[in-house]
Parts: sequence; C-alpha cells; structure tokens
Amino acid sequence: MQWSFEGKGAIITGGGSGIGRQIALDMANSGANVAILDIVEENGNKVLEELKNIGKGKALFHKLSVSDKEAVDTAVAKTFEVFGDVDFLVNCAGVLRDFLISKFNEKYWDFTVDVNLKGVAVCMQALSTQWVNLSKAKAKEKGVKYLETTDNPPRVIVNISSMAADGNMGQLAYSATKAGVVGMTLTAAKELNRYNVRSHAVKPTLIDTPIIGDLLSKDEGKFKNMYENRIPFGIGKTSYVSDVVCFLCSEGGYFLNGCIIPINGGKVGGL
Ligand SMILES: NC(=O)c1ccc[n+]([C@@H]2O[C@H](COP(=O)([O-])OP(=O)(O)OC[C@H]3O[C@@H](n4cnc5c(N)ncnc54)[C@H](O)[C@@H]3O)[C@@H](O)[C@H]2O)c1
Repeated sequence: MQWSFEGKGAIITGGGSGIGRQIALDMANSGANVAILDIVEENGNKVLEELKNIGKGKALFHKLSVSDKEAVDTAVAKTFEVFGDVDFLVNCAGVLRDFLISKFNEKYWDFTVDVNLKGVAVCMQALSTQWVNLSKAKAKEKGVKYLETTDNPPRVIVNISSMAADGNMGQLAYSATKAGVVGMTLTAAKELNRYNVRSHAVKPTLIDTPIIGDLLSKDEGKFKNMYENRIPFGIGKTSYVSDVVCFLCSEGGYFLNGCIIPINGGKVGGL
C-alpha cells in the first residue's frame, strides 16, 4: 500500500530481509527517507540498492548488530545527520532459536535475549535520546523548561513482537523475548508520550519469511498443512505486517498510543 511519508525519516532494524525489508520498501515508495540496520551485509546492500532504485527519499544501510550499543548510537547519529530528522523507528531485527523446556539450551537462550530484547532496548534508547535532546534544545530556544507535548513533532516506535508472546510449544526463549517486547513497548508508551512519541507493538502470526527456515517445506509439508489449517486466513505475507506498521506511523494513527495489535490471520488466542 502507499502512504504519505514525504519528508519523513525512518529507521528499520532487520531491514535486510523479510518483514523489515517490506516495511523499508513500502515506506520508501511512500516518499520516506529510509535507513536500514542489519547484521547481514549482503542483504543490507541488496535492499539499499532497491531503496535507491525507488528514487524518492534518501537511503542508508548500516551494518551492525542491534545489541551493539556503540554501533547503534553511531548509526543513529549519522542517520539524523544525513536525513535531518527521524520520525519512525521500527524494531524488526529478530532471531528464532527453538528448544523444548526440558532441553534448555543456554547458548540459544542468551543469543535470543541479546538480539530480541537487548536489541530493541538499545535502539529505543538511541532514538529516544536524540528525540529528548532535540526537544530540550527547542525548549531552551523558547525559554521554557519543557515543550508542550504537541510542540514536539509526532514520532512513532513500532516493535515487532509475535503471537508467540502468548506462549508456543518449543519457543521458551523466543516467547519470553516477544512478551518482553510488549512490556518494553508499554513502558516506552508511558515514558515517551510527553515528547509526542507514540509506541506500539504488533504480534504477527506465522509469516512466510527466512526466519522460519525450512519449516514450511520439511516433513512433506506437515507443518505447512498444520499452520494453514490453524490460521483461518492462512500463512501470512510480509505486506500484512507492513500495512499495519505503516498505518500506525501514518496521520491516521495519530490518536493511538501503546497499542498491542495481533496480526492474527483471523485466529483469536495464540498461534
Ligand atoms: N516470520 C514470522 O512468522 C514472524 C512472526 C512473528 C514475528 N516475527 C518477527 O518479525 C521480525 C522480522 O522477522 P522476519 O520474519 O522478517 O525474519 P527475517 O529473518 O527475514 O528477518 C530478520 C532480520 O533481522 C536481521 N538480524 C538478525 N539479528 C540481527 C542483529 N543482531 N542485528 C541486526 N540485524 C539482525 C537478519 O539479518 C534479518 O535481516 C522478527 O523480530 C521476528 O521475530 C516474525
């Protein structure tokens, strides 16, 4: 879908693949300046080319891990410098490492928590630090201690959680981090609202992207059939998530804050 994002700036983590790539392309097609942050250089460069070919706003790719605070701070500062301002942060970078509770895997646990939880926290702190500093500088210019909320430009954070936040077989670490993302989102919604920053999380059901690996093709389509039967509208496409994220960032989403939206393919209550 197309939106009106001319003159807006967006940072999309995990923008090198799947859902993040779709959001990056949709925002760029709608006129936004888009910076993607991703750990895989080859994918990031490919998407950067796609963004440049759209030829509307500016495009940047920063190769980094979202849990590397110093690298994220530097990339975010650079993006503000090049774009002039950044209005949207979409935290899409994520990893999936499954294990049964009885087969607890400490390496998988630490890795998942590092990327899915710390990564979101680090990116939110980087953007909010910039936004708070800009607000304070403008307040100083005006000779007041704080700006009125709506004297700050409207800005939006959207975090990609998952229906797995409600619990899912074999997903102890993943579901813990995705439930944690909901908690962090609600904290941001309460803490940053006075700077006119609205924070939301979306909880997609199964979407066909590289993160699910060979799930849909293995065991002669056993899991594909299972999920197709379980999700009334079937396995999702990346655009189903991007459309909701773009709506939340659009003018139409202006009166919303702290929304936790299940993108559930019609199924109410878990995956
Ligand atoms: N596909 C699904 O079924 C589904 C469902 C619910 C939620 N999600 C969530 O959606 C988000 C996007 O996933 P996707 O489905 O597009 O998968 P994907 O694997 O296509 O994309 C994830 C991206 O994150 C990047 N990434 C991973 N670790 C990183 C790190 N440390 N630093 C920077 N970038 C990193 C990857 O390189 C990749 O480009 C994830 O947070 C995922 O948990 C996916």
